[in-house]
Amino acid sequence: RHYSIAFIPGDGIGVDVLGEGRKVLDALSSLDGGLKIGYQEFDWSCEYYMNNGVMMPENGLDQLKGHDSIYLGAVGYPGVPDHVSLWGLLLPIRRQFQQYINLRPVKLLRGIKPPLAGKGLEDLDFIVIRENNEGEYSSIGGRMYEGTEMDMAIQSAVFTRHGVERVLRYAFSLASSKGKRKKLTAATKSNGINHTMPFWDEYVRKINSEYPDVATEITHIDALAAFFVTKPESFDVVVASNLFGDILTDLGAAIVGGLGIAPSANINPEKNFPSMFEPVHGSAPDIAGKGIANPTAAIWCAGMMLDHLGEYELAAVLMESLQQVLEEGAALTPDLGGKASTWEFGDEVCRKILGK
Ligand code: NAI
Ligand code: MG
Repeated sequence: RHYSIAFIPGDGIGVDVLGEGRKVLDALSSLDGGLKIGYQEFDWSCEYYMNNGVMMPENGLDQLKGHDSIYLGAVGYPGVPDHVSLWGLLLPIRRQFQQYINLRPVKLLRGIKPPLAGKGLEDLDFIVIRENNEGEYSSIGGRMYEGTEMDMAIQSAVFTRHGVERVLRYAFSLASSKGKRKKLTAATKSNGINHTMPFWDEYVRKINSEYPDVATEITHIDALAAFFVTKPESFDVVVASNLFGDILTDLGAAIVGGLGIAPSANINPEKNFPSMFEPVHGSAPDIAGKGIANPTAAIWCAGMMLDHLGEYELAAVLMESLQQVLEEGAALTPDLGGKASTWEFGDEVCRKILGK
């Protein structure tokens, strides 16, 4: 089994945490002689932008296309506007490669103390599916009358039958096959947003009729955000549009220990294109260069990548080793109350793997 990975560390702590993920993958390949992972490194980032005026070369997507997976740190740098870094790299990859599923587990790992008090939180484990290709993140719109009293901006959300049906079908199918409670919660805001959200709700009901075994609730995003805090144990599979999913998953990360822990996978289910694995967090300029970023999210992402590649056993070894290190608590980074550096944590996970 030979896999080729496009390796894009990006900016800030993206570089630090992705290095640890790679170390862990290398430890797994030395454990299993049959596994070979080759990397092609890309220096596409805000630094690249400052030198070249673009986040990636014009044929960047062609360069990525032939790889089995893309492993990305984060992009973003204080001197470069965030919409430039996002629209110049991340969003074109997600869209061109039809990575329309953004999988974000909200799962309390062993060794992480639940930040919220309450019963049943120890085995908190659900998944948020964020629509990743359309919705509120459209570039349709513009700025008008700038510099006058009438200064204004308009941005249109795009919801298509094709886009909405495929993400909902994926979510229902997941709830039906893997869901512990066979329950799906769809985020909406059809009271305030009166075109796109009633459309979304209509398709939730329609696709639900294909999966009658799944209990479905359609919940307004504001209430849903509160329920993430007050009754997170009640969720199984949550599906949301691009913007709502983005916000919900940072909240999801917060209730299971913070951004340093939260992984995400941008999946092209048909496998026509490579899928991309990246932590939920950004480049964290406030702690960049200090060597204290938590690599847990990036390492977990490597586990999701192995799962996607069909390497289930190695993914399980990775997750087990990661949780052992968290449980033992000697190599925790400062965000989890420890004193260890990014690499000390990564090294410890490798030691656990190599001891198996
Ligand atoms: P952020 O996720 O980078 O940081 C938010 C807070 O969480 C900071 O206090 C940071 O120190 C902390 N944090 C994040 N990851 C951590 C880790 N692994 N270990 C310990 N602490 C961690 O979000 P922010 O500050 O909103 O954005 C910073 C830059 O990152 C911006 O330029 C933004 O556009 C970009 N960004 C990029 C993303 C991507 O490439 N996928 C995603 C989110 C933001
Ligand atoms: Mg986000």
